[in-house]
Amino acid sequence: MINSKAVQMDAEIISNKRIGTYNHMVFSVDEMANGCRPGNFVAIAVGGPASSMVLRRAFAIYRASMRADGTGLLELVVAPLGNGSKWLASQVAGQKVNLIAPLGTAFGIPTQPVNALLVGGGYGSAPLFALAETLKSRGCRVDMVLGASTAGKIYAPLEGKRSVNSLTITTDDGSAGTTGRVSDVLPALIQEHEIDLIYSCGPMAMLEAITAITQQVGIVHQCSVEEAMACGIGVCMTCVLPVEGDDGVIRMTRTCVDGPVMNGNKVLWSKSRDIPDGVWGK
Ligand SMILES: Cc1cc2nc3c(=O)[nH]c(=O)nc-3n(C[C@H](O)[C@H](O)[C@H](O)COP(=O)(O)OP(=O)(O)OC[C@H]3O[C@@H](n4cnc5c(N)ncnc54)[C@H](O)[C@@H]3O)c2cc1C
Ligand code: FES
Repeated sequence: MINSKAVQMDAEIISNKRIGTYNHMVFSVDEMANGCRPGNFVAIAVGGPASSMVLRRAFAIYRASMRADGTGLLELVVAPLGNGSKWLASQVAGQKVNLIAPLGTAFGIPTQPVNALLVGGGYGSAPLFALAETLKSRGCRVDMVLGASTAGKIYAPLEGKRSVNSLTITTDDGSAGTTGRVSDVLPALIQEHEIDLIYSCGPMAMLEAITAITQQVGIVHQCSVEEAMACGIGVCMTCVLPVEGDDGVIRMTRTCVDGPVMNGNKVLWSKSRDIPDGVWGK
């Protein structure tokens, strides 16, 4: 089911700043900000009223907050890659965009203090900083790993570093931190910090590699998947992934309404994107 707190609105852009290869964008969204949780996403109409870009683009909510004067703020980290995201990143303060939020599931927060490891790839780090703050406020130890192909694609604002116990950076080309992938450093960090739970967000291949580790060591893996979405509200089935339910049945599951946050250990990751044998209804 669509997130019951979702609303559609024309939101004014308060600021749009380039940070490395990303744009940090802030929108005025009234009390809608109160309903946003770490892991939720927003679907934004791009291209203006006469555009042929009919599909909304999905963006993870980086932070949602209320000012003392009652203004709600929604913050996003936008990587200008394709036509829609480039259009969004080119909009300036004062302009309005039509958005629907909050959408999708949120990261589950443990009731007891635990040792949590947060792993982000590229702009996949966006929802992890607000999550880190929530976990810290519940008494959890929070360690973070951020990875990208190169240093410019690591999104790690200064305040983010303050909200975690340790921050490890990996880059494929060695231009920052440890050379390699996030999955290379995980086994040692899991052991060193006695990790109970991994939260992750990033490319599918990264989520699959993390799942291989969490399944091996037997720890919980909550991941936010960024599967291509068309409608974003559960209607079109573009975004489905094979996921094993609690009853052991594998179903093609809509990541826009039953995700983006899912139990990574229950997803049947597949580079081929074929529907695997054994899926209900195949
Ligand atoms: C949950 C979620 C969170 C995200 N968070 C962020 C974020 O925080 N920051 C960020 O920069 N990006 C984020 N993205 C990615 C962002 O939505 C993409 O950049 C965007 O969809 C690509 O659009 P574009 O305008 O850059 O490219 P374009 O080429 O203009 O658009 C591609 C469009 O085609 C759709 N599409 C692609 N493949 C298929 C397919 N196989 N079937 C149907 N439709 C398809 C896409 O969904 C998109 O609407 C997120 C994506 C998801 C799903
Ligand atoms: S994007 Fe349409 S059902 Fe998920």
